[in-house]
Amino acid sequence: MHYIEIRDVDFEYEKGKSVFQNLSLNIDKNETIALMGPNGSGKTTLGKLMAGILKPTKGQVNVFSRDTRGIPLHEIGLRIGYLFQNPEKQFFANTVYDELGFVMKIKGYDEEYIKEKVEEKLELFQLKGLVNHSPFLLSQGEKQRLAIAAVLMNEPEYLILDEPTTGLDKKRKDMLLNLLFMLKNQGIGMTIISHDRRFVERICSRFIYISRGEIQYDERA
Ligand SMILES: Nc1ncnc2c1ncn2[C@@H]1O[C@H](COP(=O)(O)OP(=O)(O)O)[C@@H](O)[C@H]1O
Ligand SMILES: [Mg+2]
Repeated sequence: MHYIEIRDVDFEYEKGKSVFQNLSLNIDKNETIALMGPNGSGKTTLGKLMAGILKPTKGQVNVFSRDTRGIPLHEIGLRIGYLFQNPEKQFFANTVYDELGFVMKIKGYDEEYIKEKVEEKLELFQLKGLVNHSPFLLSQGEKQRLAIAAVLMNEPEYLILDEPTTGLDKKRKDMLLNLLFMLKNQGIGMTIISHDRRFVERICSRFIYISRGEIQYDERA
């Protein structure tokens, strides 16, 4: 039994236009995977299928041994953190603080505890001075860091990161890499969708390349 099982999957945004050709893939929880391929090859679609955000048109995707069609999205989201290619897409709050604290508030944690956890993330992601700013008005790098911080507030056991280095300079990439290493050392598995081969080569141990709807290679380092 694998953590994520993709079996003979296809997905159609438009009827008759397949993104994949019976794609199958097994992923274990502790793996750190790079998912690569040209633009339009289906990386984002595959990531969303893995996170249950999209359901396959054909075939089946199981996460923790359950068909994603039968699990409420928020339930998957508590275990599998998903970072959108465009981080803005996941923002909803008026302030950085609320963006980070919202889920814990919904879960009914008390304000002091939430504050403590939010501050922890602000510190880690160097967002401290921006706590009252609007998420939508941050720089690209700040948005990216906030989006990852927000995903981590759920304490996920697995991460799917869609192009996480977009808009980051060398220094910010190194920061992100350090952070991902820290998570990896905590036993959190991840799939990193990226064009940035240098970046993924530093942290990933399995490299999957998709093109024309098929897996072209799948190699372990
Ligand atoms: N919302 C959408 N509606 C219609 N077609 C889409 C949509 N999103 C993606 N596609 C198409 O699906 C294919 C795979 O896209 P995507 O998964 O975004 O690839 P990648 O992330 O590798 O660039 C492409 O041909 C793309 O044009
Ligand atoms: Mg994409």
